[in-house]
Amino acid sequence: MELAKTNIEGLFQVKVNDKSRLVTHNKVPGKSVYGEMLLSISGEEYRVWDPYRSKFAAAFLSGMKELPQIQDKRILYLGVSTGTTASHFSDILVNGVIFGIEFSPKVMRRFFRLAEQRDNLIPILADARRPEEYSPFVFEVDMIYQDVAQPEQATIFGRNSQEFLRSGGYGFLAVKSQSIDVVLKPGEVFSKQMEVLEQEFGLEIQEFGSIDAFEKKHAVIIVKKP
Ligand SMILES: C[S@@+](CC[C@H](N)C(=O)[O-])C[C@H]1O[C@@H](n2cnc3c(N)ncnc32)[C@H](O)[C@@H]1O
Repeated sequence: MELAKTNIEGLFQVKVNDKSRLVTHNKVPGKSVYGEMLLSISGEEYRVWDPYRSKFAAAFLSGMKELPQIQDKRILYLGVSTGTTASHFSDILVNGVIFGIEFSPKVMRRFFRLAEQRDNLIPILADARRPEEYSPFVFEVDMIYQDVAQPEQATIFGRNSQEFLRSGGYGFLAVKSQSIDVVLKPGEVFSKQMEVLEQEFGLEIQEFGSIDAFEKKHAVIIVKKP
């Protein structure tokens, strides 16, 4: 098996049984986080990143070009859940850290156990709609990653970007159209969310892409704070 670098540092592609897979170097050798395949390549262990379980991997494989780098970043992750995607970010990070916000105590318990094994994950039980409640525990970040499936997705992102995102920092926003409006066409829902990000919060849209091939009626918006 041969590893190929991608344009995201720390993210590799490898062929397994003629299929191309995304992989990250396992920070905790021997441990699979969500049942993903572990591969031994040149004496090192890698974890296969499942695009059906993670919107970042889905966005990469859907051909999005402006995905933010992860290495050396301080990341605020809204809707971290049990840590599927965050575990791969944790593999990639060199000096950075991830503040993982999750409001379900049951789900957070599992993320907490993951954070006990990975020293770059900081679990915070809180509601992403109320950034003022966790502002004492989070400092300025280089990137906000959001995947919360809530009606007010752009507003939640915008408020967090005002509070925590540094100037020049990036955002990755996964948008599920059905959580916002089941009547409007997905394209209209996505346009309205981008309007809110630009006009209400002054964020610059860098890229918009559908990830429908992996997650129905989902899209990803990449933004930059001027
Ligand atoms: C689609 S899942 C996230 C999956 C995760 N991003 C991953 O790739 O591993 C959405 C998560 O967001 C959480 N969530 C939804 N609304 C939230 C809110 N307002 N504040 C914090 N967490 C929220 C849910 O409890 C759920 O765990």
